[in-house]
Amino acid sequence: MTVVGPVSLAALLEGKGVLPQGWQPVFERVARGEFLPDRVWPEDGDVVVDRRRDPDAWRAAVYSDRALVTQWDDGPHTGDGAGRLATSSASAPSTVAEMLFDLDAQTGMRVLEIGTGTGYSAALLAARGCDVVSVEIDPELAEQARANLARAGYGDAVRVVTGDGVLGHPDAGPYDRVQVTAGVRLIPAAWIEQARAGAVIVMPWGTDYSTGDCALRLVVDEDRRGASGSFTMATAFMKLRRQRPDRRHYGAAALPDDWTATAAASTTSLGWGDVVAGPFDPVGFVLGLCVRDCLAQPVPDGHGGGTLWLYAADTGLGHSTAAAGFAPGCTPHVLQSGPRRLWDEVEAAWCWWDGQGRPTVHDFGLTAGVDTTGGAATVEQQAWYRDRNHPLAPARTAVETR
Ligand SMILES: C[S@@+](CC[C@H](N)C(=O)[O-])C[C@H]1O[C@@H](n2cnc3c(N)ncnc32)[C@H](O)[C@@H]1O
Repeated sequence: MTVVGPVSLAALLEGKGVLPQGWQPVFERVARGEFLPDRVWPEDGDVVVDRRRDPDAWRAAVYSDRALVTQWDDGPHTGDGAGRLATSSASAPSTVAEMLFDLDAQTGMRVLEIGTGTGYSAALLAARGCDVVSVEIDPELAEQARANLARAGYGDAVRVVTGDGVLGHPDAGPYDRVQVTAGVRLIPAAWIEQARAGAVIVMPWGTDYSTGDCALRLVVDEDRRGASGSFTMATAFMKLRRQRPDRRHYGAAALPDDWTATAAASTTSLGWGDVVAGPFDPVGFVLGLCVRDCLAQPVPDGHGGGTLWLYAADTGLGHSTAAAGFAPGCTPHVLQSGPRRLWDEVEAAWCWWDGQGRPTVHDFGLTAGVDTTGGAATVEQQAWYRDRNHPLAPARTAVETR
């Protein structure tokens, strides 16, 4: 009988073909179980697996290729059910392996990790011979990770810093590699500025059009004023704390009572399934790249249709809102208001994507440029199709003057 443990997990990952060359012994050496708390919630189930009640089930979960939620709602959680929002987890080992493949970390490299969580991925990097600084925003999680790392023998190789990873950790830079294990919407300048020229930065990046992310592999420019690279795989991470979708920013909190009567009405030939996608579907990701700064919130009706709500922030002329309603057998109806016609932008972006033969996420990339004019450093994010010379033009926006 196979003993379930780090060796069987490494063999599972090797069998899936996701382990980078030379990493199988590292996954065999670092026991995931040493990093996980007694209570974990597998991603595909919303009930706790408790080590004290069922040690065999806990061990099977820990050495499976599943993401395990370890914290809900930014704090202590009572009860066996799921909380409202998963706020820390040990990512699925195959996702960890695939991000390590992109990172290409070598022995002796200095690595900045953002999002320590359990400390497992930091321990893998340390076991590979890297010198790791890992930043965790949650003080209790940071403390627990420190204890996990010390117990597993990686206390010296990994320095856990309690703080906001958006600021990086300049004291220990410049870094050869930056690994981010929380979903990013706006790339902070610090990660580029604290990296060496030619350094690799890997992060799950996405837009508020979708709850999903894509792994983005950036290479830092020679002058360290920017970085550019491609998307490598669809994934879904919990977002950086200050980069969770904010409905108020998008004006989604309250619509006037007479909104449906005053918004411009039209129809569309697209269907619910065209524009409402799961977190791993390329269409949601691509629509988010093309329709800038747009929050999409689908409300399914339980009968194969529903309403897709679209919101855009006020950039001086007011908020923009659109709602597209889909019901089987009925012509979809669209309502739009504000300076941007958000549904028209989505439809134009979908038609472009369809006309290109529905490219996958691998055909897209992003360039991040640091701008320091005016004092504070900001990052301009420019997505592109195929290469950086083909920036994705934002879909046309009609400006309402009345
Ligand atoms: C998916 S978990 C990280 C998994 C971790 N690398 C592991 O191996 O267990 C994401 C972590 O990012 C942390 N986080 C969220 N926002 C952060 C921020 N702004 N700075 C640092 N850590 C952050 C969360 O508290 C959470 O622990």
